[in-house]
Amino acid sequence: MLTVSGLSASYGAIRAVEGVSLDVPAGTFAAVLGSNGAGKSTTLRSIMGLHRPIKGSVKLRGVELSKLPLHRVVRLGMAYVPEGRMVVAPLTVEENLRLSAHAGRGRVAEHLDRVFQLFPRLKERRGQLAGLMSGGEQQMLAIGRAMISGPDMLVLDEPSMGLAPAIVDQVFEAIVGLHRQGQSLLLVEQNAAIALSVVDYAYFMKRGSIVLQGKPSELRNSPEVMEAYLG
Ligand SMILES: Nc1ncnc2c1ncn2[C@@H]1O[C@H](COP(=O)(O)OP(=O)(O)O)[C@@H](O)[C@H]1O
Ligand SMILES: [Mg+2]
Repeated sequence: MLTVSGLSASYGAIRAVEGVSLDVPAGTFAAVLGSNGAGKSTTLRSIMGLHRPIKGSVKLRGVELSKLPLHRVVRLGMAYVPEGRMVVAPLTVEENLRLSAHAGRGRVAEHLDRVFQLFPRLKERRGQLAGLMSGGEQQMLAIGRAMISGPDMLVLDEPSMGLAPAIVDQVFEAIVGLHRQGQSLLLVEQNAAIALSVVDYAYFMKRGSIVLQGKPSELRNSPEVMEAYLG
């Protein structure tokens, strides 16, 4: 359903991503893993239309996205949870959600209900200022804000970043819940151990390129993965 082929992206003369190809079939949960600076975020930003120009092809349901701006990419069914969450601190939970609904695909009331079902905590705290919420709650809000557009494909950049282990587990439970409901997902993570415990398929990036890929069961048996990422 999402097909990336030969994706390359640069910052001026710095080549951050080189020839990345990956597939996320409808209903599957895929991850791009690797160390800091490997090119994971640039890959996601390039897929979403936040990084332009790029080389190669990014297709959702066969529709080419690689020359479209972010708002068109979102309308076509992609939604993005950025690294560091980036909620709007002086707005309430509900205002954050409604603000993003403008960029979405309509049916706001229905999607808002679904977000509140997914995260009852956000419903309880809908009038609370986002900046006063805990890191875990802000991550749930960032995911809710992406789900408000009713996406076909949800992409998440390091949802575990800066959260205590127990909170990371809660956030991943919610993400796994979405997957069980049929949501297609593409996750970027430095935390390979937690990602491999939940995804259907994973890609490992190193210095801008994919160096390894497979199902978690295969990757966990790879000496290379054990040594470099699972220690
Ligand atoms: N805004 C930027 N300007 C210049 N170089 C950047 C910028 N963002 C990232 N890079 C470089 O691109 C490479 C990939 O970065 P990034 O995609 O953020 O990696 P990751 O998300 O895997 O940590 C790194 O070498 C990083 O230093
Ligand atoms: Mg990153």
